[in-house]
Amino acid sequence: MNPLAKISAAILIAVPTVHAQTTVDGAAIADEVQGANWLSYGRTYSEQRYSPLKTITDETVKGLGLDWFLELPDQRSLISTPLVVDGMMYFTGSWAKLFAVDLRARKVVWTYDPKVLEIAGDRARIFWDSNRGAAYWKGRLFVATGDGRLIAVDAQTGQEVWSAQTTDPKLPLYINGAPRVFRDKVLIGNGGTEVGSARGYVTAYDTATGKQAWRFYVVPGDPAKGFEDEAQAMAAKTWTGEWWKHGGGGQTWNGLTYDPEFNRFYIGTGNGSPWNRKIRSPGGGDNLFLCAIVALDADTGKYVWHYQTTPGESWDYNSNMDIVLADLTIAGKPVKALMHAPKNGFFYVIDRSTGKLISAEKIGKVTWASHVDLKTGRPVEIPGARYEDGEAMVFPSAFGVHNWPPMSYNKDTGLVYIPTMEMAGWFSDKGMNPVTWHATNFQMDPGVRFTKGDELPIKIDASWLLAWDPVKQKKVWEVKLPGVWNPGTLTTAGNLVLQGRADGKFFVYNAKTGAALWSFNAGLGISSAPITYAVDGKQYVSLLVGWGGAGMSFAGTVTAQHGWAYREQPRRLLTFALESKSVLPASPPPRIPQPVVKEDFKVDPLLAQQGSDIYVRNCTLCHGGSAVSGGYAPDLRESQAPLFLEAFHEVVIKGSRQLQGMPQFKELTDKDLVALQHYIRRQAAKAAKAGALKVDAGK
Ligand code: HEC
Repeated sequence: MNPLAKISAAILIAVPTVHAQTTVDGAAIADEVQGANWLSYGRTYSEQRYSPLKTITDETVKGLGLDWFLELPDQRSLISTPLVVDGMMYFTGSWAKLFAVDLRARKVVWTYDPKVLEIAGDRARIFWDSNRGAAYWKGRLFVATGDGRLIAVDAQTGQEVWSAQTTDPKLPLYINGAPRVFRDKVLIGNGGTEVGSARGYVTAYDTATGKQAWRFYVVPGDPAKGFEDEAQAMAAKTWTGEWWKHGGGGQTWNGLTYDPEFNRFYIGTGNGSPWNRKIRSPGGGDNLFLCAIVALDADTGKYVWHYQTTPGESWDYNSNMDIVLADLTIAGKPVKALMHAPKNGFFYVIDRSTGKLISAEKIGKVTWASHVDLKTGRPVEIPGARYEDGEAMVFPSAFGVHNWPPMSYNKDTGLVYIPTMEMAGWFSDKGMNPVTWHATNFQMDPGVRFTKGDELPIKIDASWLLAWDPVKQKKVWEVKLPGVWNPGTLTTAGNLVLQGRADGKFFVYNAKTGAALWSFNAGLGISSAPITYAVDGKQYVSLLVGWGGAGMSFAGTVTAQHGWAYREQPRRLLTFALESKSVLPASPPPRIPQPVVKEDFKVDPLLAQQGSDIYVRNCTLCHGGSAVSGGYAPDLRESQAPLFLEAFHEVVIKGSRQLQGMPQFKELTDKDLVALQHYIRRQAAKAAKAGALKVDAGK
């Protein structure tokens, strides 16, 4: 090569391409008008997920096509919302791995792996690989991990800047939520109400140093130790018994909204630990601040106001769902509104300047309460719903009418687009002693039975994309969706609503009418919300494709129907644009796990029952209720490993697959494994007898 050419090539490379550089600070994240960047989990502080971009519209969307895609071979669950800053995309993948993608070069520039499984060790048994996203502030990214760290990473280099342990590693707490950034601070909560005794809190850290700025506890601690502040003393009056011995709960794993107009945070708080109030607070009580929205001063973390959606909660009806801010006109008056659709099935509109409830209506099937009394702001409960007599069947289930998949709000249509579902919840504490019951840390036990442990997989289509008018509190349209576990939505100024589905299809609808305008087969169940942004003035839509979240792991009996068997389909980032015609390589087709039937294995009913108890406490979280996998982990009914005690021992007790996401259970014995074998064979035989579930091909 001519040496001169070499020099000129070097010079060419050295000249940086000049692009506008955005300083990502509070003013940038509050900016609803710019559409090129997607700077925060919910796009802007309002969490509306509304983009002003409008080249892709209800007219032009028929020309939308796949522009390019990225294979993500080491990934599993992808549930996060990516960020876009000046032509760079940042997203979190499985176990909080961060990816930086150059959207012009269409290449991964760096990745940052927080090595969650190595650090968590056997503590990884209480959380999944899923992570909802990162935050960006002045050139740094912030990501939180399953083992409870909050980490700052340089956005240019992908190098770690600081790391703060936000949870006590001895406690059963984990993080899978996206942090939020504001005024040189970063806020994060945690999860873990079902897996031991723990008390929920949120913590703000200094973005520059990682030093703790403030912490707010969601429930009061032991009164003998003194309360942290007046809010805790007030909350303690709504508890009875020795709640602090059970932790109390309130873990805030999602639902963090910063309000720059009032310089406040609204946090959507978690359910009780345990769920069963008879244990947690035996003399009754509202149990503040469980299942509530609490407004906090963003500079100090001090309590401002609260609104509790489910007083004295007993069904896992947490308020961890997204909190969306909007200026609404209600009865002719402008209102600084806050909108919230928690698990309990009501849609709340609250005046966020005061915390006063404006309206609340049901958005799905709800039988635990008849309505919300607007005078008192309290739900009017249906007698019996609290399993007062030991057992109750109520709507919704612990999965809620709306779960964490985010809703979006479109100011042009005035509508909120909410993924909803309808499932009955069975709750039973028959035969349990509320006085002697105590949680075992790192084991699942919410103080009430909510799965019978032997249900067969079913095909269920009981979910919707609901377009809701928050002012009239009325349904405007709805679209039936497959299964129950469908992801979050995006809405745009092009009169569009975009949403993936559990069956792997990605749909675009007319935001006013709900008419389906366009669809694409992504080849795997979708669990992320799409985003839209612009690079060099051109509008794109991107979507992560990787089946994930509690619905696919925990609720295997209702999600196995889609046939997204463990790690069979490729995980991808898809990017769409007008007039693009790239073709996605076909994915392996869906496959329903086929239980292995061993005619010579005689199931001992007593052993199988013991195995069921061990399974529910230790394995359900990932391998699915009733031993039916929804795709998070291998279906144990079709696995060869549990058939041979030695192999079973290697995997479960020795922990030979820890770095593949199968935690070690040192404390289990070979006797326990034999009981598990009998349970798994019982479940396999039962499913085989009933006939295998067929793959739902979808429409
Ligand atoms: C935190 C999630 C999680 C929990 C809890 C969990 N597993 Fe797993 N398990 C996995 C994953 C993921 C794999 C697949 C690992 C791999 O790819 O090798 C796995 C694999 C296995 C395998 C090997 C299956 C095969 O065919 O390769 C067995 C057996 C198993 N688990 C049994 C159990 C039992 C029994 C329990 C409860 C005591 C349990 N697991 C709890 C996530 C989990």
